[in-house]
Amino acid sequence: MANYHTTTTINGDAVEFLCEPQETLLDVLRDRLGLTGSKEGCASGDCGACSVMLDGRLVCACLVRGVEAEGREIETIEGMADGERLHPLQTKFLEHAALQCGICTPGFLIAAKALLERNPDPSETEVRYWLAGNLCRCTGYDKIIRAVLDAATEIRQG
Ligand code: FES
Ligand code: FES
Repeated sequence: MANYHTTTTINGDAVEFLCEPQETLLDVLRDRLGLTGSKEGCASGDCGACSVMLDGRLVCACLVRGVEAEGREIETIEGMADGERLHPLQTKFLEHAALQCGICTPGFLIAAKALLERNPDPSETEVRYWLAGNLCRCTGYDKIIRAVLDAATEIRQG
C-alpha cells in the first residue's frame, strides 16, 4: 500500500513522516518516530493510555489516523517537561506515588494537564469526572486524584 507523506508539528518541532493510510497516530508516534511515551492499552479508545493533544484537544491517538496529523499541532508526553525540569504534575505524581507499572501514567498526565489548562481550580469531583476516560489497573485512583489536586494548587500559587 502507498505511503503518505505527512507534515505536522510535534511538541513544537516540525516533523515529517511516511505512513500507510490505515496506520494510527499512536503507531506512527511509537513505531515511526520513536516517541514511545504514549502507550497502547486497548487500541479501541477505552483506556486513555494513548492520550495526546491534537490542536489543543485531548484525543486518543489510537483513534486518529497518522495522516490526520497533516498540518496539525500535536503534544505528547515527551513535550511535557521543560528540559530537565519536570512539569508540576509529573513532580506530584512522583511525590504521591501515583503510579506503579506506569502504563497509564502518560495518558493521565496529558489529560490532567488539559484539565488544568481549562480549569486551574477543579474540585475533586471535577478531576474524577475529567479523568474518567483514563483507566489504571494497579495504582488505584486516589493517589492520582490527590496528585492532580496538589499540582493544581502548586500551579495556582505560581
Ligand atoms: S490505547 Fe487508545 S484508548 Fe486505549
Ligand atoms: S500504574 Fe499501572 S495501570 Fe496505572
